[in-house]
Amino acid sequence: MSATNATSAASASTETDRVIIFDTTLRDGEQCPGASMTFEEKLEVADLLDTMGVDVIEAGFPIASNGDFDSVAEIARRTKRAVIAGLARAIPADIARAGEAVKHARRPRIHTFVSTSPIHLEFQMRKTQDQVIDIITATVSQARNLIDDIEWSAMDATRTPLDYLVRCVETAIKSGATTINLPDTVGYATPSEYEAMFRNVRERVLDRVPNPEKIVFSAHCHDDLGLAVANSLAALAGGARQIECTVNGLGERAGNAALEEVVMAIRTRSDVLPYQTGIDATLVTRASKLVSAVTSFPVQYNKAIVGRNAFAHESGIHQDGMLKNNTTYEIMTPDSVGVSKTSLVMGKHSGRAAFRDKLKALGYELGENALNDAFTRFKDLADRKKVVYDEDIEALVDQEIAAAHDRMKLVSLSVIAGSHGPQRATMKMAVDGVVTTEECEGNGPVDAVFNCIKAIVPHAAKLALYQVHAVTEGTDAQAEVSVRLEEGDKAVTGRGSDPDTLVASAQAYIIALNKLQTKRQSLNAQSQPAAE
Ligand code: KIV
Ligand code: ZN
Repeated sequence: MSATNATSAASASTETDRVIIFDTTLRDGEQCPGASMTFEEKLEVADLLDTMGVDVIEAGFPIASNGDFDSVAEIARRTKRAVIAGLARAIPADIARAGEAVKHARRPRIHTFVSTSPIHLEFQMRKTQDQVIDIITATVSQARNLIDDIEWSAMDATRTPLDYLVRCVETAIKSGATTINLPDTVGYATPSEYEAMFRNVRERVLDRVPNPEKIVFSAHCHDDLGLAVANSLAALAGGARQIECTVNGLGERAGNAALEEVVMAIRTRSDVLPYQTGIDATLVTRASKLVSAVTSFPVQYNKAIVGRNAFAHESGIHQDGMLKNNTTYEIMTPDSVGVSKTSLVMGKHSGRAAFRDKLKALGYELGENALNDAFTRFKDLADRKKVVYDEDIEALVDQEIAAAHDRMKLVSLSVIAGSHGPQRATMKMAVDGVVTTEECEGNGPVDAVFNCIKAIVPHAAKLALYQVHAVTEGTDAQAEVSVRLEEGDKAVTGRGSDPDTLVASAQAYIIALNKLQTKRQSLNAQSQPAAE
């Protein structure tokens, strides 16, 4: 890290060093195409975020749909520790709905935002700067009359002229906001610019508002140029004390700053980043796996902190160094982020207790029914595969979680493939418990399988992506298949795993189809105007 960053971080060390971690996986993350989660999945993610020590959970955008409202309200009721935020545009109906959704939380927050940049004002909002100032006064005051804890965001802050940004921030604080978020909405800023923006806004605003010590500045960075984490850390040097981030960096377009990267950078480089978070970092791997499983968004192999290769050492020189002393090539230990290398080898003789222990070591806690289903599938896998690796079990359980609440399920599949076509599949599928059998031909075995699904559940969605990779090595390795379906502006992904690539393909397609149906239902149930 450069000397400049170290110096500026050091100059902020006289201020309070506790950084508030605001997680928006369930809002900005869920908003990205294909990452939709079911009601139960959102509750599960929120529960884990709370256990991890996330300070603020942005649970959703209550006006967006009845489904969003219900999940925010339920998370608000259940969460024990974290502040629960609901997002609202600068529209009275949005703010009322967000207030209604979070009101039962122990610590509720309304997060309201409006665009401030000339580009957004001219082309999107068609409002003048003065009109936006009036909107800020009215909407922040409305929110403050409902809930004490109000966060206000200047959307596209990094492309907003400083003088006007200062005017907006001052207005928001005087109207009742106590957290001021200055997002790099389009992922355009560089670290030094972002740091300077916070420093300048704080310097110019804080001596003109009442109770300046109560105001927290917040960073919210998108990763369009791969700078989201760097920018978020730079914001701390400029005086921000809240970072908005998501598990696995999920989020609009290239995503948001990744929670696990922010937390581990602060922990590992405390010499130049003199801050602390309240996060139990040993849970970040589990959170990453859970979010990946429920969204079916695979984690890139070389992803920092939580990627499969983040602690793998392949080259001879690296392995040699690691055997002598692990600090030669590791700047943090796998244990510190919850990666446990247990020596328990699983196979067909392993019993339920060992399986449960293994799941616990891998960070899963399943209910009794899910555990039974997963154990049955594990036994089936162990019969077909010599060694069952941790990755196999993870793939199996992820699929179990993704399919837990599904209406459509694969019952059986057989395929005739080979060089002498036509390839033919016979499939049994249960839809709401009713089993239907179909036999279809196709242009290859995968096509034949997908044609069976289309025959049983007719739909107009297009297959936008089909990807296969092996979970572990060897010819008996499980295949992991990702499928992306698109229907109009809706996109969903599904992931399936099985030693048989065609079974994994069918499972992935069916998981995606289930998600599409859930999404359609939640949109149909929507009775409010569309959210941005
Ligand atoms: O990126 C952004 O500006 C946002 C706001 C709603 C905070 O997500
Ligand atoms: Zn955002």
